[in-house]
Amino acid sequence: MTPAEPRTFAVPQERKVVTALPGPNSLALQARRVASVSRGAGTLANIYMERGAGAILEDVDGNRLIDLGCGIGVTTIGHAHPAVAAAVAEQAHKLTHTLFTVTPYENYVKVAEKLAEITPGDFEKHSILVNSGAEAVENAAKIARRFTGRRALVVLDHAFHGRTNMTMAMTYRPWPEREGMGPFPGEIYSVPISYPFRDGLTGEEAAERTIDYIETHIGPREVAAFFAEPIQGDGGIVIPAPGYFARIAEYCRDNGIVFVADEIQAGIARTGAWYSIEHHGVVPDLVTSAKGIAGGMPLAAVTGRAEIMDAVQPGGIGGTFGGNPVSTAAALAVFDLIEREDLIGEAQRVERAIVDRFGGWTSKYDVVGEVRGKGAMFGVELVLPGTRTPNPALLKHVLKYATEHGVIPLDAGSWDSVLRLLPSVVISEALLDDAAGVLEEAIESFQGVGEAGITPTS
Ligand SMILES: Cc1ncc(COP(=O)(O)O)c(C=O)c1O
Repeated sequence: MTPAEPRTFAVPQERKVVTALPGPNSLALQARRVASVSRGAGTLANIYMERGAGAILEDVDGNRLIDLGCGIGVTTIGHAHPAVAAAVAEQAHKLTHTLFTVTPYENYVKVAEKLAEITPGDFEKHSILVNSGAEAVENAAKIARRFTGRRALVVLDHAFHGRTNMTMAMTYRPWPEREGMGPFPGEIYSVPISYPFRDGLTGEEAAERTIDYIETHIGPREVAAFFAEPIQGDGGIVIPAPGYFARIAEYCRDNGIVFVADEIQAGIARTGAWYSIEHHGVVPDLVTSAKGIAGGMPLAAVTGRAEIMDAVQPGGIGGTFGGNPVSTAAALAVFDLIEREDLIGEAQRVERAIVDRFGGWTSKYDVVGEVRGKGAMFGVELVLPGTRTPNPALLKHVLKYATEHGVIPLDAGSWDSVLRLLPSVVISEALLDDAAGVLEEAIESFQGVGEAGITPTS
């Protein structure tokens, strides 16, 4: 593997704001959208995009914005990568659909072979390919229930697993994901996580708290699967303390519980490893992949121990579009790029750059409680000055200011108070520096309710 050659991008890698944001063309599209699109598909910034390359998005008014979100962690390899575009075009001219469960094709098998190679664990693994992250999580739940013959699913506080009926029920926050949309399926239990910034517990202590909850509220022999994001995404880039998952995985093993790592946001090179559970030194039984797996094409997967994956009867899992020829062609191009251009190493480079540029914010700003993350997946926990109390008003201000100045970060956290950074792993240090400057202006310009505005403490 060799580091990427300096690349030329179809869109220059620079921030350039030429109109007010949103610009006039975006505003015109917004008016049409309000008249035609459900309000339920809420938007972070009503800036309509025309094209993208690397870490830059260009909007319909010619503004160039630094993308710190990748459409929530999808375009990890950069926008509109030419290798993915070529693979998609070539496949689209050959074959777009047969339905794998009617008449199969090689791409699907190749993706399953690759997933068996890159997911943790030195044992025989099988996969099922589906369309979305939520569908992958639902299938993992079905498979684990079929394998164990048990009903209960355990999920962690602050988890996000999707928006289908089952995955809504597996998701922590009532608002906006769940409210008014029940009834939900039963036998789903949310248990305390390890959240070092908030609970101050060691990994072992937090694991004992989790286990005690299972023992006293559910009963381990009822539990089919324990679902965990090894690094929580929407929950606020929560990274359980060292030792937490090792103890949980041991408990699952001892009690016949299927341990599922939901890697939909953190997997596929984003955190400087193929899968983020590797940072915890744990081998899960099942892994869900999606988002970054196919460079923006819809594809998701459940991969895991062959005996668990094969517990389901033929026809018990699947779907019309799952693992379609074009999305799988894109995924094969993504896997190839990650290896050929050492994008795992690039994610580690991004981690060093973020730590260098953003790490000092906790001493510079009394409203920054913690800057934490791995690879190109970071969270900045915003708090009321000098406290650990969440500061959602500041996050709202930062997002508005940033998007109006050509930077697109994301929100996260159960209290809407974590600034989430999921840039492409090909983002340059110069772009990160420029984006950090805009975010600093945003923090410093906050005139919060009941506060005198934020002054840097150094
Ligand atoms: C960890 C995790 N699981 C599941 C999902 C649901 O994926 P999708 O939106 O593709 O259904 C997401 C989406 O953000 C996620 O981050």
